[in-house]
Amino acid sequence: MCGIIGYIGQKDAREELLSGLYALEYRGYDSSGIALVAQGGLVTVRKKKGRISELEALLKSDTSVKRSGIGIGHTRWATHGAPNDANSHPHRGNVGLVTVVHNGIIENYVELRAECIARGEEFSSETDTEVLAHLIEFEFEKDRKDPLGALQRAIAKAQGSWGLCVLFEGYPQTIFAAKKDSPLLIGFGKGENYVASDITAFLSSTREYLPLCDGDCAVVSAENVEIYDAKGTLQNREHTIALWDKDSAQKGAYDCFMNKEIHEQPETVNKLLKGRTKDSLPDFSADGFDVSRLAKAETIHIVACGSAMHSALYGKHIIEELARIPVKVEVASEFRYENPIMKENDFAFVISQSGETADTLAALRLIKQRGIPNAAIVNVAASTIAREADGVLLIKAGPEIAVATTKAYTSQSLILALLAVAVAYKKGTISDKYAREFTHNITTFSDSISEMLESTKKLENIAKRLENQHSAFFIGRGRDYATIFEASLKLKEITYIHSEAYAAGELKHGTISLVTDDVNVIAFATDKDLFDKTLSNIKEVKARRGYVFLITGKDGEYLSHSCDETFVLPEVDDHLAPLLAVICCQYIAYLTSKGMGLDVDKPRNLAKSVTVE
Ligand code: M6R
Repeated sequence: MCGIIGYIGQKDAREELLSGLYALEYRGYDSSGIALVAQGGLVTVRKKKGRISELEALLKSDTSVKRSGIGIGHTRWATHGAPNDANSHPHRGNVGLVTVVHNGIIENYVELRAECIARGEEFSSETDTEVLAHLIEFEFEKDRKDPLGALQRAIAKAQGSWGLCVLFEGYPQTIFAAKKDSPLLIGFGKGENYVASDITAFLSSTREYLPLCDGDCAVVSAENVEIYDAKGTLQNREHTIALWDKDSAQKGAYDCFMNKEIHEQPETVNKLLKGRTKDSLPDFSADGFDVSRLAKAETIHIVACGSAMHSALYGKHIIEELARIPVKVEVASEFRYENPIMKENDFAFVISQSGETADTLAALRLIKQRGIPNAAIVNVAASTIAREADGVLLIKAGPEIAVATTKAYTSQSLILALLAVAVAYKKGTISDKYAREFTHNITTFSDSISEMLESTKKLENIAKRLENQHSAFFIGRGRDYATIFEASLKLKEITYIHSEAYAAGELKHGTISLVTDDVNVIAFATDKDLFDKTLSNIKEVKARRGYVFLITGKDGEYLSHSCDETFVLPEVDDHLAPLLAVICCQYIAYLTSKGMGLDVDKPRNLAKSVTVE
């Protein structure tokens, strides 16, 4: 949801900003821009609608842009105002003394803008951000001696969220930054420093960083960084060393990040499990997570958005089945406005790959306000959600760059499976033998993924077929019903093919009216106990001449006689088979999108990290 970067040091800031923006492009790709401080302190702004490559081409052809060692940059996911050149960041104040890039939303921008207009100021964009540039400049102009004070006074008038980098005329050696409810990190180099929305923007130069806290302002020069908290007190905070290395955020030999991330899953699953089993049982002691608290819960709430919420659906199924604790899965954007019923002996998880999703963060804050014990399942260790939750379970999947999540979904689901075994074992709702067997099967899941990924050639036919289709349905029962939502989302978000997930038995209650000649139905059948029921539903589709692509295990091969095509999964634990089926569908979605000539990693209208409500 917009990415910002600032660089100050001896290198060519234009190159540093472009490389940082490419790394942040997953956060939004409607437009991009940079501001560089030229010798003499004048600020040059260049911005362009479209992908960062458009900005790069513009900068290459523009010889008037001089080399500089300081600058700020932005990649935009449009909220206020169309994606065009004028609305692209950076934005400047009324007379151009102040230049800003902003991630977030200024909620009271209409009234603030009216105040500026009443003073005779003129605006050149429809954005909420431009008002910040005007406000900061208005404060700065009072004496031009206290840029930090001007920034602090201006943001005190704003409501909403911001990750902000600011350049002031007359201060050519300093980037000023501010943060509230949008992520912002300082990256510390040798004789150079960075400010960015995400660590990946400076990972190729430094792994040493510090996440700013809400209310912070920072004054960043090449040799020094000062951080002031919301009260204006100078802070002395410890730096962190990133767990990720610079190669983890590169595509390597793969054609796109999504394909790379699908293929990383055997490895990321192993990373997730490392140190989390002991004597063939789950062990969360290294996480400092007390399973007994969870075992005593009357209800477990899991709150998340998008695919993270889909992993919660899988978690609900397995926790309820094994541990017999009711699990309520809630969409974060609804949860906070529905006055949720939570009791003091409940437990709540929030799940978020990025750890920055605004709706999920708001849900976590509500959970904490109600005094409910909680933990976050996140990928990004330095994220706001990870810092604010009572407990943290890191999925350790490494940077996920493709907008469509793959490895994070699998790891989120798997950690819930491991928690289900741990809680069920604690409660005594499963036997010692079963707990050890299932734990063992979880630890060998990566082998099944590898085996499956070796036979992806067999998925090419269905992917080719889908390229020319308008719609698809995913059906399943039981555990398969818990996972088809994710398979369906993968297809629709990167191919724009209309796709829906339905309980197989529910089709006949209305939706089957849409099934006519050759309509695509992808049927998951991994739940042995429900094979025959699913078969009846497949036959209902075939009777209407629909096209059925079946994903099943060896035991379910007999169902293939009633289907048009079948993909047989490698042998795997019954509870894990639906996750393997989702990985198949991740790959089908990738192949289809690629075959259609689409941008697999950056589907239209989307951004990886959704930091606005
Ligand atoms: O970073 P988060 O896990 O909180 O993100 C939640 C959703 O925005 C995310 O899963 C989204 O649905 C993805 N585009 C799915 O591929």
